[in-house]
Amino acid sequence: MRDALTRLGIEGDPLVRAAQEEQFGDYQSNCAMVLAKRLGRKPRELAVEIIAHLSIAELCEPPEIAGPGFINFRITPAAMARRLGAIPAAGHAGVERLGIERTPRPQRVIVDLSSPNLAKEMHVGHLRSTVIGDCIARVLEFAGHEVLRENHVGDWGTQFGMLVAYLRRIRPEVERNPESLIIKDLEAFYVEAKTQFDADDTFKAQSREAVVALQQGDATTRRIWQAFCEESLRHCHALYGRLGVRLVDRGESYYNELMQEVVARLEQRRQDDPNSAVRLSEGALCVFLEGFKTRDGQPLPLIVRKSDGGFNYATSDLATILHRVEHLGATRIIYVVGLSQKQHFEMLFAAARKVGFVGEEVSLHHLGFGNMLSPGGKPFKTREGGTVKLRDLLDEAVERARRVLQEPREEDWSAGRPDRASLADADMQRIAETVGLAAVKYFDLSHALGSDYKFDLDTMLSLEGNTAPYMLYAYARIRSIGRKAGIDFDALPATDLVLEHPAEIGLAKTLLRFAEVVQVASDELKPNVLTDYMYELSRAFSRFYDKRLGVRVIDASPETIRLSRLRLCDLTARTLKLGLDLLGIATLEQM
Ligand code: ARG
Repeated sequence: MRDALTRLGIEGDPLVRAAQEEQFGDYQSNCAMVLAKRLGRKPRELAVEIIAHLSIAELCEPPEIAGPGFINFRITPAAMARRLGAIPAAGHAGVERLGIERTPRPQRVIVDLSSPNLAKEMHVGHLRSTVIGDCIARVLEFAGHEVLRENHVGDWGTQFGMLVAYLRRIRPEVERNPESLIIKDLEAFYVEAKTQFDADDTFKAQSREAVVALQQGDATTRRIWQAFCEESLRHCHALYGRLGVRLVDRGESYYNELMQEVVARLEQRRQDDPNSAVRLSEGALCVFLEGFKTRDGQPLPLIVRKSDGGFNYATSDLATILHRVEHLGATRIIYVVGLSQKQHFEMLFAAARKVGFVGEEVSLHHLGFGNMLSPGGKPFKTREGGTVKLRDLLDEAVERARRVLQEPREEDWSAGRPDRASLADADMQRIAETVGLAAVKYFDLSHALGSDYKFDLDTMLSLEGNTAPYMLYAYARIRSIGRKAGIDFDALPATDLVLEHPAEIGLAKTLLRFAEVVQVASDELKPNVLTDYMYELSRAFSRFYDKRLGVRVIDASPETIRLSRLRLCDLTARTLKLGLDLLGIATLEQM
């Protein structure tokens, strides 16, 4: 299409998209309408002309014009077979990427994800940032970018004075032996310290002193603080390990010195130019930005040094940006943080550009997401009204997965599954862990980022529908087809594909769309584009393998057709596995 437009001397986007409905073919372009308007011509006429300049006979049936000037394309089975045939077979280079190329313009990208506050246990609110951030990082890495995953943990601030003072009071041995610190329940520990703080003025005073000592770099206070942070991070990493999430811890405290630098640079700007956006307001050093107003219409500046001289979240995030751009050389920074911080990031980004910390070559992106709500649609709380620990939530999902897996199932569902009785307890636990965590992640990622969703174990663990168990089951079932057919998919050579039956063509067409879907997911940073596709693919496979409407596979003949169909099975399994991997989900050979 692009070539055709060039030949016609027309500049413009060919606007080719997957067709919404089968009756319109496989792909559709509405560029004739858009361009005709611009050129003052009749859309259908222009469409005819574009088609006349297309050379796609090898790829498509002759394109058709529909309605006011849509151009519809239908890929020929022969072209599909060629394309699928070009996907590297087992043992060949690029097989694990299914032949998908890397971007010719790799960037150094930072994904700011998870980032809990270390004073407390990770709670359900941290699930989304962790899971979405991990998926985005995987997708961008797959696209060929260099991705740094930064865990911007909250390890600084007044709470830490209180925690250090409390540790000193109830665990004095930590002072001599900070490495020995073990806190079983961080949440309970925080609550105890806070209770003490509210009830005991001496302790309150000690906490305040500890904050000052910490800020002034007092060695003992620092050691205790560090011991606490390390213990808290161990709790976090137990969960990251379980979730299969890799990241680098670099907390707010890392930027302490850089915050001085930030303020010094801004102070310089203010002094150099009294009309600059950096000004004092009621004793605070502020960056004034266009378009940000308080509720009563007053200018709303970003405060970078409070009137008492203290720094805040914005100072710390400006220092972080400086570090990421100037030291880490990032040209793209993605913050995976809840939508409640939307305004913080808008102001932060505007300020960073305004004061020249970030040039045009660097993109800043707040990838905000909605809340995870309780099944009843309320904020997620324990029965007693406390926050739900992420660990408890995951444990519950795994336990429920185990029960679902142990339920008796229809005959069809037992494919790819070992005899339940023969399954050792340890295997059952491993499978339940994989399925339970997969269900939680998949369910989260399958919702549009910006909207809230209700955490619903029954739905996410359902064996039918757009769920992880369904996807994992589809994968395990296809792998078992290989075993039943006496074929090792991991050694299946390249085969000529025969695409005749509608179910074969439908599956092939869906398989071919994978590269395009990954591209969209990575361009638009939308995990649910991937989950939607996965669901479509597993349904296309079900139709293909359906006893009545699909084709024979294991006992198909002649051998060329049998091999072609087995290769389609193999490609489906590989696509499912790769897609799940991009979502951060591990597959199972048997389920
Ligand atoms: N620790 C923060 C919180 O719990 C999230 C940090 C997000 N990252 C950032 N660079 N501000 O709300």
